[in-house]
Amino acid sequence: MNHGHEIVIIDNLSNSDWHALDAIQEITQKKAAFVALDLTDKQALTDFFKTRSFGGTIHFAAFKAVGESMKCPMAYYRNNVLGMMNLLEFGDQLGSFIFSSSCTVYGLPDALPIDETAPLKPSESPYGETKRMGEAMLKDWAVLEGHRAIALRYFNPVGAHPSGLIGEKPVGVPGNLLPYLTQTAAGIRESLRVFGQDYDTRDGTCIRDYID
Ligand SMILES: NC(=O)c1ccc[n+]([C@@H]2O[C@H](COP(=O)([O-])OP(=O)(O)OC[C@H]3O[C@@H](n4cnc5c(N)ncnc54)[C@H](O)[C@@H]3O)[C@@H](O)[C@H]2O)c1
Repeated sequence: MNHGHEIVIIDNLSNSDWHALDAIQEITQKKAAFVALDLTDKQALTDFFKTRSFGGTIHFAAFKAVGESMKCPMAYYRNNVLGMMNLLEFGDQLGSFIFSSSCTVYGLPDALPIDETAPLKPSESPYGETKRMGEAMLKDWAVLEGHRAIALRYFNPVGAHPSGLIGEKPVGVPGNLLPYLTQTAAGIRESLRVFGQDYDTRDGTCIRDYID
C-alpha cells in the first residue's frame, strides 16, 4: 500500500479479526478495502468478481494446523482444496498468482537440508495433502491455461511490522510453532512442549533463510 498499490483483502475471519484492518490503516494512513467472504462460497465469489479483476493475487487463506487436520480431515479438504479451486476458476481476473504452500509437501525427506530439488513425498497429514493438491491444481492452471503462478513452500514463517501493530495473532491456541513460542515467551502460554529426542535443526531453515 505504501508503494501505491490498491489492495483488496478477502477473509472469512475464521482465524483473524477486524483489528488488523485498523492497524493497517494506522500504519499506512490508507484504508484497505476489505470483503468478508468465504472462499468455499462460490456464489459469493462470483458476485465479488463480477466487478473486479487484479494485477496479482496472494493466496494465504487456508486452515493450517497439522494436528487439527488429523482430527477433522474433511474440513481441511473442503476449506483448502475447494476454496482454492473456487478461486482459480476466476483465471485471468486473478493476475499473477502466489500460492502459500508448505514444507509439508516434502513429507519425510530422504536427505537434509531440503532444497527445492527435493522430491515431493506422500504427506504426513491431511493438511499437507491439501497443499500437495493445491500445487497440482496450480501447475495445471498455470501450464495448461497459461497463467503466471508460483508456489512458496514455507517452513516456519514468522513476521511482524516494526510498529508491533500487526503480526502473528491467531484466534485461540496457535496451531503453529512460532506464534506458540512467542506467546509462551510473553507468558500467555505456560510452556512449549518439544516432542522427540532429537533436537538438531539440520534442515538449516533458520540459518539459510532468515539469519543469512
Ligand atoms: N504459519 C505457518 O507456519 C505456515 C507454514 C506453511 C504454510 N503456511 C500457509 O500460509 C498461509 C498463511 O498462513 P498464516 O500462518 O498466515 O495463517 P492464518 O490462519 O494466520 O491466515 C489465514 C487466513 O485465512 C483466513 N481463511 C481461512 N480459510 C478461509 C476461507 N475459506 N475463506 C476466506 N478466508 C479464509 C483466516 O481467517 C486467516 O485470516 C496458509 O495457507 C498456510 O497454510 C503457513
